Amino acid sequence: MSDNTQPNASVSAVIILAAGAGTRMKSATSKLLHQVAGRSLLHFAVDAANAVEPERLVVVVGHQREQVEAHLAEIAPHVTTAVQEAPRGTGDAVRSGLVPLDDASGDIVVTMGDVPLLSGETLRELVAEHRQQGQAVTVLTTRIADPAGYGRIVRDAGGTQVARIVEERDCTEAQRLIDEINAGIYVFDAAVLRAGLAQLTAGNAQGELYLTDVITFARAQGHRVGGVVLADSIQAEGVNDRAQLSRLNREYNRRILAKWMDAGVTILDPETTWIHDGVDLAEDVTLLPGTSLEGATSVARGATIGPDTTLIDVEVGEGASVVRTHGSLSVIGPGATVGPFSFLRPGTELGVKAKVGAFVETKNAKVGDGSKVPHLTYCGDAILGDGVNIGAGTIFANYDGVTKSTTTVGDHSFIGSDTVLVAPVQIAAGAYVAAGSTISADVGPGELGVARARQRNVPQWVARKRAGTKTAAAAEAAIRAAGEAVAQ
Ligand code: UD1
Ligand code: CA
Repeated sequence: MSDNTQPNASVSAVIILAAGAGTRMKSATSKLLHQVAGRSLLHFAVDAANAVEPERLVVVVGHQREQVEAHLAEIAPHVTTAVQEAPRGTGDAVRSGLVPLDDASGDIVVTMGDVPLLSGETLRELVAEHRQQGQAVTVLTTRIADPAGYGRIVRDAGGTQVARIVEERDCTEAQRLIDEINAGIYVFDAAVLRAGLAQLTAGNAQGELYLTDVITFARAQGHRVGGVVLADSIQAEGVNDRAQLSRLNREYNRRILAKWMDAGVTILDPETTWIHDGVDLAEDVTLLPGTSLEGATSVARGATIGPDTTLIDVEVGEGASVVRTHGSLSVIGPGATVGPFSFLRPGTELGVKAKVGAFVETKNAKVGDGSKVPHLTYCGDAILGDGVNIGAGTIFANYDGVTKSTTTVGDHSFIGSDTVLVAPVQIAAGAYVAAGSTISADVGPGELGVARARQRNVPQWVARKRAGTKTAAAAEAAIRAAGEAVAQ
């Protein structure tokens, strides 16, 4: 057996079975590409497999294999794929998986592509037990209240060895009552696996080649076959339909939230808070209901996020506040305030104590320290210095229909409300722009840029054009009152 030849954790191969049809998902997307916490099911399987440091990692593909292969090329280019031409059963799938492994010896782990909560730690324990007990096969098992649909673990009289695994459809009445089930995850001695697979026949209720029959073979050859009972049953749960996908997503999320609460993060409503694996949170971060933190988002100490905020690959500085906001690929500086109702698009960088307020959209915009974009603004392709104030309703017109251009606003400049800054244009440091201007030429330091028609009032217009209306009556009354005030 392999315990002497492979003293470290490393196994000679992991085979991930991923050729099944996933019919119950009712999806044009391969089941294995559906996600838990922002990662595909297959990505979870590959990450868990990596924990036992396989010399070779083989994924057996079949159904929707183009999608699966393209995805693997992206997330795990080191993986070899093997094709199972038709779904003739798990035994046939492993046969396919062995093809690229040539004459690999030692320990081979077989796992599945659709059990996202299975941890690398569990696989390591399975391998360790396999070696310690000198077993030819070690099966991961678990006890569940409703074992329907799973293969049942039939133990021998002593209970230490697994005699065989019987599929639900092949069970006797008595076997159906067994609550220890096959998780479908194993360590095999390569030679025993090969010899066992060569003997398989499809003489069972489903007419398939059952990988589980290798166990019967191994026992007949006098080898030891053990089972490791997984206490954390949900790790063995596969995704077959959308309800299971949702359940595993929620459970995985619950575990992530528990970890962060342990680490000093306040999470007001765990039911509506979602955090992906790659997120990093400091102590004394507060997450309000409806917060979703995704990708490589990080939040520094004392910051408050939410309610109703989604941040994807956003870096939030110490003590910042982000309220009802959607942000991606952005940096929010220490003490900055964002929202409510802000939209931070990629390339947004807010400085220390910067402010982005209600109904403001930013894109590729640098907002300097203490600068404010408080209300109703589109700020795209902009570089704002420090202490800048952007009036309500300002539009950075960055796109002429062909190219995008940049607007710069220097330190401590003040843009009046309802201004359009037509890029490329530069407002120097220490400049003003009058409200309602359409600015298409640069404004120099200390200058006031004004670009709007001069106001003209037409006397008696209401009396002439709106005679008999309430407005005309109000005008008459106001004019009379003004006249009386002057007379007094
Ligand atoms: C299998 C086990 C069962 C165990 C259960 C755990 C066998 C005979 N039975 O049953 O004891 O309790 O898993 O979930 O092994 N696959 C292929 N090609 C095939 C068939 C399956 O790649 O031809 C892959 C599937 O994509 C899936 C895995 O193998 O990832 C398990 O297949 P599935 O059909 O779900 O096996 P079960 O019949 O549920
Ligand atoms: Ca299954």
